Amino acid sequence: MKQARVFSGIQPTGAIHIGNYVGAVRNWVRMTERFECFYCIVDLHAITIPYEGPEMPARVYEAALDILAAGLDPEKCVFFVQSYVPEHTELCWYFNTLASVGALERMTQFKEKSEQFRENVNVGLFDYPVLQAADILLYKAGVVPVGEDQLQHLELSREIARRFNGRFGDTFPEPKPELTPAARVMALNEPTRKMSKSLTGSFISLSESEKEIRKKIGRAVTDSGPQAEGEKSPGVKNLFTLLAAFAPAETVEYFEQQYQAGTLRYGELKPAVADAVVAELNPIRERREQLAGKPGDVWEILDAGAARARAVAAQTIVEVRERMGLRR
Ligand code: TYM
Repeated sequence: MKQARVFSGIQPTGAIHIGNYVGAVRNWVRMTERFECFYCIVDLHAITIPYEGPEMPARVYEAALDILAAGLDPEKCVFFVQSYVPEHTELCWYFNTLASVGALERMTQFKEKSEQFRENVNVGLFDYPVLQAADILLYKAGVVPVGEDQLQHLELSREIARRFNGRFGDTFPEPKPELTPAARVMALNEPTRKMSKSLTGSFISLSESEKEIRKKIGRAVTDSGPQAEGEKSPGVKNLFTLLAAFAPAETVEYFEQQYQAGTLRYGELKPAVADAVVAELNPIRERREQLAGKPGDVWEILDAGAARARAVAAQTIVEVRERMGLRR
């Protein structure tokens, strides 16, 4: 029987990368077997940094294609676009009255993004984690499959749920993160930083060709200065993370033994990582090509998902309004 509700979101950045995939999206797919799941393309979060309006529909579409190609079955979950469900922004406003400015100022992502986009430190960027709390709690989700970089935002979601419950009565669960062993994949070209769409050369996207995948892994940085005794360098550690995420356990064990024995050769490790990544991404790329032939289907899936999401969202909003005294 399906138990707790699950919610997670992803920004439409244009192309989903293997960090998003092994850190979150692959887990989304698996969780549909055990839970009632809501998965969302968060376009309202994406507009907090500079963007071009006319490009947004294509970005949303590409994200949806990637996720469906990665194996998400829209019959087994509710898959939709955030802005199609206006209750997200409504709940965000209510939560704004419970979130403290101090807590938002401490958010690492806000600090980083306001450094990166100094010309455009807008209120939406500041409020971003409150909208995220609204996303999750609108569906009363208790489990949130994410990568490590979202833990601080989730802590705030829990705090908001606690505050609301304390003030207006028990309404929301305190959502817990669900991490995978690859919850933090690092940049291939700069392994002390996170793999990210905004860091050029750092990522492999889900639809990358086999040739590109091999080239990027072949060039991945392995040596980055002296390490403490018995510690893998960040680049080597990252290759092992990818190996563990994509290859069978025996392969990981073989290379671990090589490493322990001091006989590890990057010339052998890198092709093994590339083989494993290619083996998993090839069928995803093929499914993507099939789906891309029928764009109408993808939009239909998202519309149907939004309708199902709204039915649940509307119930929560009625309850919240009542509890907050916003009804006669
Ligand atoms: P976003 O779009 O940056 O990333 C989507 C998911 O991918 C994970 N991730 C990674 N995992 C491992 N290694 C990496 N290098 C890596 N980079 C990204 C992220 O942790 C995330 O799980 N704020 C969120 C979107 C969001 C959301 C939500 C998530 C909005 N509302 C509610 C959960 C619940 C974000 O920007 O993720």
